[in-house]
Amino acid sequence: MNTLLSASASTPAEGEGSVLEIRGGRPLTGRVEVKGAKNLATKAMVAALLGETESVLRDVPDISDVQVVRSLLEVHGVTVTDDGDGVLRLDPRGAVSAHMEEIDAHAGASRIPILFCGPLLHLLGQAFIPDLGGCRIGDRPIDFHLDALRAFGATVDKLPSGIRLSAPTGLKGANIALPYPSVGATEQVLLTAVRAKGTTELRNAAIEPEIMDLIAVLQKMGAIISYEPNRVIFIEGVDALRGYDHRSIFDRNEAASWACAALATDGDIYVGGAKQQEMLTFLNVFRKVGGDFDIHEDGIRFRRGGALKPVVVETDVHPGFMTDWQQPLIVALTQAEGVSTVHETVYENRLGFTQALNKMGASIVVHPEGLASPDRRVPRRALEQAAVITGPTPLHAADVVVPDLRGGYSYVIAALAADGTSRVSGVDIIRRGYEKFFEKLTALGADFDVVG
Ligand code: EPZ
Repeated sequence: MNTLLSASASTPAEGEGSVLEIRGGRPLTGRVEVKGAKNLATKAMVAALLGETESVLRDVPDISDVQVVRSLLEVHGVTVTDDGDGVLRLDPRGAVSAHMEEIDAHAGASRIPILFCGPLLHLLGQAFIPDLGGCRIGDRPIDFHLDALRAFGATVDKLPSGIRLSAPTGLKGANIALPYPSVGATEQVLLTAVRAKGTTELRNAAIEPEIMDLIAVLQKMGAIISYEPNRVIFIEGVDALRGYDHRSIFDRNEAASWACAALATDGDIYVGGAKQQEMLTFLNVFRKVGGDFDIHEDGIRFRRGGALKPVVVETDVHPGFMTDWQQPLIVALTQAEGVSTVHETVYENRLGFTQALNKMGASIVVHPEGLASPDRRVPRRALEQAAVITGPTPLHAADVVVPDLRGGYSYVIAALAADGTSRVSGVDIIRRGYEKFFEKLTALGADFDVVG
């Protein structure tokens, strides 16, 4: 029975309290629905600034990252209306410059504000972007973003409190080659190039499904965008864009998280809304680990198919194994019979969360320089780290503090898989990316209380 601080209904209300007391040792079974992707919906909301008429975005998840973007749009005069059932209407016709302190107040722990640069420069000829938040999984630089904006002709001044940009004579198309297929930098270029004068050629672009869905959104608005198989994207700038009506693709990071929860707790979880195409690489690894899945019209059923087996996984840009998937997977690998290796090649500090898993009985060693191996698929990046996980190690309860979004989710799953009662603090960070998190845990039979 899950109870709030006070006498309560069966499911703790979202947002009330951020400390969970979790009684583990029970498999998660049942059905959850995943809504639109956090990492598309927030960007499509920013894209609405570029339109001259109202946009409609559907399947928007009710998460704090969306609230942050909504607040930032509203301080810039955009009217955002929540029609309920995940439908947002965004009307940019009242857009105005916002005051620095207002922007600062709303930026929150998000990286999305950096994507306002292009649209605000087109709209107002200037922009102020506060220092960014986001998960502590590395130093999260924005040099690719600022170099791209300068290539479009913007002047960029770094202030103590953030970045001031201006482009009084407008922005012009540019030839940009990214040093690394950065998702955010690719989005920065797309959101700026669509209204720049002339053509932009972007090389070494990210091609994640969320990027392709953002291209679909922009095309609906009137943008002219094409791409080649070698990560080259061409954007022909147009004079005006209109609003869009778009349903976001599903959140494959949330879907993968619940799949790993099924493995870790020996459960059986039906993830409504999940689609095979955008999860091919994940599904291959899921099966290699010993998971079993059934693809249905309206979702995917994930469960353990028997004893879990060790794997060697390397995170990579799409279509590789996404860096966002490795943290929940590592919890499942603590239960695999043998030695697994997870190479994190995208972020420089996304394996720190494993220390708390070791506190719960896991046996994980992190090699800061990765592991030397001759046949590596991606050029060795200085950021690389490798976790070596030896299993199976029964997990026991512990008190842990959420370090970041996916690490936090992983701690909750580890506590649910562990014997005994754990306390997980800082759970509100998880609400940045997992809609109705408490409700879904309850629906899957998790035994927990919100205690603080
Ligand atoms: C997006 O972050 C996602 N966030 C991340 O998801 C995801 O892990 C990441 O893409 C990779 O897929 C959102 O979409 C809000 P990057 P982003 O630019 O755009 C370096 C989650 O859990 N880099 O592709 O910030 C960077 O340091 C979050 O939902 C620069 O060096 O990621 C990193 O090492 C976590 N300079 C690598 O590139 C730059 O200017 C990839 O970063 C930009 C990035």
